[in-house]
Amino acid sequence: MSRTMNKSAPVNHNFLPEQYRSTGQAGINHNYLHSQFSDYPEIFKRLESLIIQGDFTLGKAVDEFEARVAKISQTEFAIGVGSGTDALFLSLKALGIGPGDEVITTPYTFFATIGAIVTAGARPVFADIGDDFNIDPKNIEKVITSKTKAILPVHWAGLICDMNAIQSIAKANKLSIVEDACHAIQATYQGRPSGSLSDAGCFSMHPLKNLNVWGDGGFITTNSRELHDRLVLLRNHGLLNRDQCAVFAYNSRLDTLQAIVANFLLEKKLDNITQKRIENAANYDALLADCPGIRIPARPSDRKQVYHLYIVRAERRDDLVTFLNANGVDAKVHYPIPMHLQPAALEYGYHVGDFPVAERTCNEVISLPVHEFITRDNCEHVAKKIREFYQR
Ligand SMILES: Cc1ncc(COP(=O)(O)O)c(C=O)c1O
Repeated sequence: MSRTMNKSAPVNHNFLPEQYRSTGQAGINHNYLHSQFSDYPEIFKRLESLIIQGDFTLGKAVDEFEARVAKISQTEFAIGVGSGTDALFLSLKALGIGPGDEVITTPYTFFATIGAIVTAGARPVFADIGDDFNIDPKNIEKVITSKTKAILPVHWAGLICDMNAIQSIAKANKLSIVEDACHAIQATYQGRPSGSLSDAGCFSMHPLKNLNVWGDGGFITTNSRELHDRLVLLRNHGLLNRDQCAVFAYNSRLDTLQAIVANFLLEKKLDNITQKRIENAANYDALLADCPGIRIPARPSDRKQVYHLYIVRAERRDDLVTFLNANGVDAKVHYPIPMHLQPAALEYGYHVGDFPVAERTCNEVISLPVHEFITRDNCEHVAKKIREFYQR
């Protein structure tokens, strides 16, 4: 794993559209947005009233949206913001976390988790994961220092972390908890929903998330009135009213347009999206249970996992990805390099071998398409191809 960057090479700013493109080759695709929004005229109708009324920022649809997602997370409050990254960053800011502080998190996550900590001015400190891909509470206590202010667990692939253990550690050490629940809307832990298990639950509505809008969007859930009030200020320039500012802050409002799209999905689609992902994952689990070369992670019975991603461990992973891609299955890797070994992490002084489980995981994981348009037949086809690969 190389950690250096070729500084003279041009940066490609336009690589993201690739992720929305269905490869003509892959019949069983990760990308499903064209099907999901095939009923867009219904949403267009709702957008008409926005255009006529013109309340483009923090309009009525945002209030409706916040009430809806607070209900899902069973929290008192929800605050719509510009993205999942902003949800994390603003939550840390609202908790008073900044320069000189440390935040403990997982090295096996998406860049935004760490980006939010660093943007808040704090230092990310990693603790290795367990076999379930989530931060292992046993490793958290070892890295607590006098500078530690918060734990930031990530509910990876829609499986909630072991929150009882994390809450006990936080309580004993007077630390805040911010949940990165960007993969985990409608997931539960011992019957309690994601977003309700910490000071602030942070969610993304990026187009490829389970609840997905037409661009960027996110939200924060909390039971703290104080935190809610601070977040409402932070997301909107710190404004008390049009003419008075309580704190010089940011602009990270959830667009009314995106709230309208999200309300449509919350009303009509999210339950089915979650249910279908769970069903598809159960199909894969059964079909791959005794498959040579494949190891399915533990599925803790006290949790409802919502499978933003369906990930298993695979021997000869890279060859398997190539084989599946060549056979019409859009398998992917989320992600091949852990955070502590990224070029961006050089300044924190981590090395290969520091987090062996995360490092091994990055070499072994493969994601199979699991979204709501994947059928039982698709799952069977994928499993058949995987068996074929290991029989060769
Ligand atoms: C684990 C995790 N955290 C945070 C984010 C950031 O969300 P967003 O893209 O909405 O900023 C993402 C996804 O993009 C994510 O996968």
